[in-house]
Amino acid sequence: MRQRRSRPGITEALWGQSIGGCYGYSYAMGGWAGSHAPYIRVPYADQGAFAIPDGVSDERALFASDSAPTGWTGAHQAEVRPGDVVAVWGAGGVGQMAARAAMLMGAERVVVIDRYDNRLDQVRRHIGADTLDYEEVDVPAELREITGGRGPDVCIEAVGTEAHTPGPQYLYDQVTQQMRLQTDRPTAVREAICACRKGGTVFTLGVFAGLVDEFPLGAVMNKALTLRGAQQHGRRYIPEILDRMSRDEVETEHLATHVMPLDDGPRGYRMFEEKEDGCVRAVFRPGA
Ligand SMILES: NC(=O)c1ccc[n+]([C@@H]2O[C@H](COP(=O)([O-])OP(=O)(O)OC[C@H]3O[C@@H](n4cnc5c(N)ncnc54)[C@H](O)[C@@H]3O)[C@@H](O)[C@H]2O)c1
Repeated sequence: MRQRRSRPGITEALWGQSIGGCYGYSYAMGGWAGSHAPYIRVPYADQGAFAIPDGVSDERALFASDSAPTGWTGAHQAEVRPGDVVAVWGAGGVGQMAARAAMLMGAERVVVIDRYDNRLDQVRRHIGADTLDYEEVDVPAELREITGGRGPDVCIEAVGTEAHTPGPQYLYDQVTQQMRLQTDRPTAVREAICACRKGGTVFTLGVFAGLVDEFPLGAVMNKALTLRGAQQHGRRYIPEILDRMSRDEVETEHLATHVMPLDDGPRGYRMFEEKEDGCVRAVFRPGA
């Protein structure tokens, strides 16, 4: 695995400490090359690679490397308990897997929020959770209605820095981002904090780089919320996920909406970014 220039100074300046390295995750995170290649060398493979159980397809196992452990990190570290109502912002691969994890941890009701029909349809059909279209309804009001006025016990944000919102806030966030007055658009985090029940937990799985504006810190303090976030903890959750995949408790094939050769990488990434043709995830098959 080739290492390019590592620049831990970037994260030291942004976050007070360097958090270490990840494969294929920028100079700031170790400068390690990623795995979009026909062959890769895996250092310390006894630590960083996992055997796929017999009978688990590639299309299923692939998602045990990222979306599923990220979803598990959110639901487990937010301490979802049996009987909880859990709201998940974002119906991409990560949000869908967070919803599935919450259901398997015993949540009584799980509601996933997005605006894309095809993604919300996947949530209902393949995950078994309820959905809300944030362009159709007032999300915090609906969540209060569902929970008898309290708000969800756990709110998981799986949207990240490129969040969208239909209101004027979107323009404000775009402008302040372009003017470098904030680095990220925390739209869904704000909504999750305000929607969460008193004493509940808000967990950010979406990736954020630095500083945000209009952050409802008063709600965090006065509502006694627990606010957490994390990079996914693959080593901790992948064995359990593969085991559940082998028992058909976790299905991911539907996420692979576009399968293409590795040479089509730029096209696949563009389709994913623009959500072209209903793309949820582009999957590359070397040699295909
Ligand atoms: N923490 C980690 O270790 C980790 C790992 C993988 C991915 N991620 C991050 O998780 C986030 C989600 O990943 P993904 O692959 O599912 O992305 P994705 O782009 O496929 O899905 C994000 C979804 O959020 C929806 N969305 C946008 N604005 C919204 C809003 N205001 N309210 C509700 N939904 C909204 C979009 O319509 C989209 O469907 C990204 O930020 C990604 O970088 C984090």
